[in-house]
Amino acid sequence: MKAVNVGLLGLGTVGGGTLAVLHRNADEISRRAGREIRVAAAAVRDPAKRRPVDTGGLRLTTDPRDIVDDPGVDIVVELIGGDGAARQAVLRAIDNGKHLVTANKALIALHGNTIFEKAQQRGVMVAFEAAVAGGIPIIKLIREGLAANRIEYLAGIINGTCNYILTRMQEAGDGFDRVLREAQDLGYAEADPAFDIEGTDAAHKLTILASIAFGIPLQFERVHVQGITAVGAEDIAYARELGYRIKHLGLARRTADGIELRVHPTLIPERRLIASVGGVMNAILVRADALGPTLYYGAGAGAEPTASSVVADLVDVVRAITTDPENRVPHLAFQPGSLAALPLLSIEQVETAYYLRLTVVNRPGVLAAITRIFGDSDISIDTILQKGRGRPNENVTVIMLTQETRERNMNAATAALGKLDTVTGEIARIRLERLP
Ligand code: NAP
Ligand code: HSE
Repeated sequence: MKAVNVGLLGLGTVGGGTLAVLHRNADEISRRAGREIRVAAAAVRDPAKRRPVDTGGLRLTTDPRDIVDDPGVDIVVELIGGDGAARQAVLRAIDNGKHLVTANKALIALHGNTIFEKAQQRGVMVAFEAAVAGGIPIIKLIREGLAANRIEYLAGIINGTCNYILTRMQEAGDGFDRVLREAQDLGYAEADPAFDIEGTDAAHKLTILASIAFGIPLQFERVHVQGITAVGAEDIAYARELGYRIKHLGLARRTADGIELRVHPTLIPERRLIASVGGVMNAILVRADALGPTLYYGAGAGAEPTASSVVADLVDVVRAITTDPENRVPHLAFQPGSLAALPLLSIEQVETAYYLRLTVVNRPGVLAAITRIFGDSDISIDTILQKGRGRPNENVTVIMLTQETRERNMNAATAALGKLDTVTGEIARIRLERLP
């Protein structure tokens, strides 16, 4: 059978990894796909750049239109990133009737609804396995493997850079900036690492996961987003002392009132399997009604792990290229006309437990005043610890763990605590999930 011609947009970390895997495993891949997959050309910013992958025989261009307008290209693989040049190229490729593979979660989370609608009308496939959790085939798993289930809950470590940083801070006591630089050197971080450490990248991924898990449109703007920049070394140490780890989690939960979508640092019990996921590894815990809880684990970033998902998508697209578009797996797992407008909860409505760290003046009655505020806010305290003995009227640290409560109750309690003249300094507050 005739070879399928692929045009690559981008030859950076993931593009380079994709080319390397396609070359190295060419025979295995064509035996699986039923046809040879040949990379015809690639678009880059700087064709003169030295690259760790052999680009011999490849037509290089700086203009993505040379690829997406080329009638000889059957499948476009977008690995530029962002939603500028990448978005223009993807929309143009669809107009030109080309199938697409992308690792670009920002593009899918922000513009996926339009892209999929356009692709549907044009009868082309858009595959995006590498956009979530790097090499873990989580899209395929949820979209196809769990198709019998009503999905209730998912919680994932879905940003490798954040997990790498938190793990190194936790295990080696390394400083934030140094570990972030390492993650950048290893090719894990986004072009602008603020997307990683401020939680945006995880929110892009959670948007996609929630959509395919619950059959709702992509709604990035409704995700509550918090990164890891405010997580202090002392909180990591106190959490550990209490039997918890701090992980940056993406959480999506179906509740009686609506869907929760949130990304934030979270204390989780150290005995949970997901608490031991370290370094750049990702893991997603999914609770589904028929199957129960399952955990999916693997490399969440890096050249070849991500290329593994890109190439798997290419094989899927090649296999389905001649099929009737109506009978393909729907982009968002549910048939396009069946996406539901389920209500999404605001963060004030979300119910979770909390870890708090307060600096208070060591004086009789201080703890009583604090616990009264919690009682008045309808919050039950699980644990309260004063760290160090402190002399009278000196500052001491108080650590508290609460039971589950609405976020709005905790906001009221934190505001009231801030007004006590015995509570000095900032109040550190991190959500705590006991997880199924
Ligand atoms: P990268 O290393 O920065 O590579 C980007 C590539 O795009 C480079 O080859 C660059 O050319 C090229 N490029 C940029 N702007 C261009 C333009 N206007 N026209 C033509 N080419 C252009 O990025 P990456 O880490 O491979 O990430 C690519 C995508 O994969 C992103 O969407 C990212 O979020 C996603 N992703 C990355 C990982 C990971 O571990 N890195 C994992 C999963 C998903 P030059 O090489 O000449 O500069
Ligand atoms: N920057 C992303 C991460 C790449 O660290 O997880 C994988 O999507």
